[in-house]
Amino acid sequence: MNKRILALVGCALLTSLTASALEQPDNKKKDDKSEKHAPTIKEVYQKHFLIGTAGDLPGNYSREELDLVKANFNIVTPENCMKPGPIHPREDAWRFERADALVKWCTDNHIAIHGHTLVWHSQTNDWFFRDGEKAAVTQRLKEHITTLVGRYKGKIQGWDVVNEAINDGGNARTAKTENLRNSPWLKTLGPDFIPLAFKFAHEADPKAKLYYNDYNIEAGAKHESSLVLLKRLIKNGVPIHGVGIQGHWSTSHVPYEAIDRAISDYAALGLKVSITELDVTIRGASGGQFGRGRGQGTPPSAQDLKAQADAYARLFAIFIKHKDVVERVTFWGLNDRRTWRVGQHPLLFDANNQRKPAYGAIVEALQHPRPGSGAPR
Ligand code: XIL
Repeated sequence: MNKRILALVGCALLTSLTASALEQPDNKKKDDKSEKHAPTIKEVYQKHFLIGTAGDLPGNYSREELDLVKANFNIVTPENCMKPGPIHPREDAWRFERADALVKWCTDNHIAIHGHTLVWHSQTNDWFFRDGEKAAVTQRLKEHITTLVGRYKGKIQGWDVVNEAINDGGNARTAKTENLRNSPWLKTLGPDFIPLAFKFAHEADPKAKLYYNDYNIEAGAKHESSLVLLKRLIKNGVPIHGVGIQGHWSTSHVPYEAIDRAISDYAALGLKVSITELDVTIRGASGGQFGRGRGQGTPPSAQDLKAQADAYARLFAIFIKHKDVVERVTFWGLNDRRTWRVGQHPLLFDANNQRKPAYGAIVEALQHPRPGSGAPR
């Protein structure tokens, strides 16, 4: 009797096990399907380079926007809150609240941070240059960098140490020189302000990746000047790790060939490259300077969006080709509402956080590259 019961129980168990074993793959398939999502850009490019966004997070961002950041980006650049102006308004006053909140939010969400920016001619208070006395200004520069970089040591993976030090335009003559911008930094400290800034940053966090960052340095006389400057820094043993090409372009004008060559030129100097402030406007002037082409809010047509998607795809084909040198590609903003180029529809998400055609084009650029797309057409 006991044996029969045992046999029956055994049989029932076996049946249910077999059934569940048979069912499992199906169930699992179902689960997989429900959990599976189309890979996001940071996932698609995981083995190539970091994909970043800029913003003063989490601040007044909506939950939907913060979720969008978490899903799509693995590195954040503070758009404004770590610039000298907002964070160090007076010599004896610091405003760390927003920067601290950003570092905490990114750390909690396992998102890396690239610091921006320590030395710039813009968004920097006049007190730095008061009296113009070299030793005093050097001391202020040192104190600023030491305090800021030191505070986030080990939490911020790298810094744009010097931003936009080279003059716009240029010609065959200036191309042979550094052609530095006549900023208060240059006026008070001379060309030494650049190596000094890198030295102070390196001392404050020896592991941080230190970048020189600028716009329009991929082409023409400004590119040549950037090479002259970088060669000086390298020759003098300055602890520079990479060059940031900002990447403020417009759909109708992206200098593909120049970008391709510029990355190779910087790599030949032994430097890494990041695209640090990428946006490709649909209409209106682009470029690094602020204030041009704003307010042209006409909605983009399907054709506009397609042209923008093509431009982004061609750009990413170049970045993929240089994946050994390119460390990071960061978009300057999150969506077409949170961008300094409002009205020019420059980013991957529209104002309602929906993916634009450019998003899919960037994914496709890696997953289904067009033949020969790595070489600029
Ligand atoms: C811009 C910000 O996006 C704006 O919000 C701010 O009003 C001005 O600065 N190059 C840089 C960035 O290095 O810091 C600039 O950011 C855009 C140009």
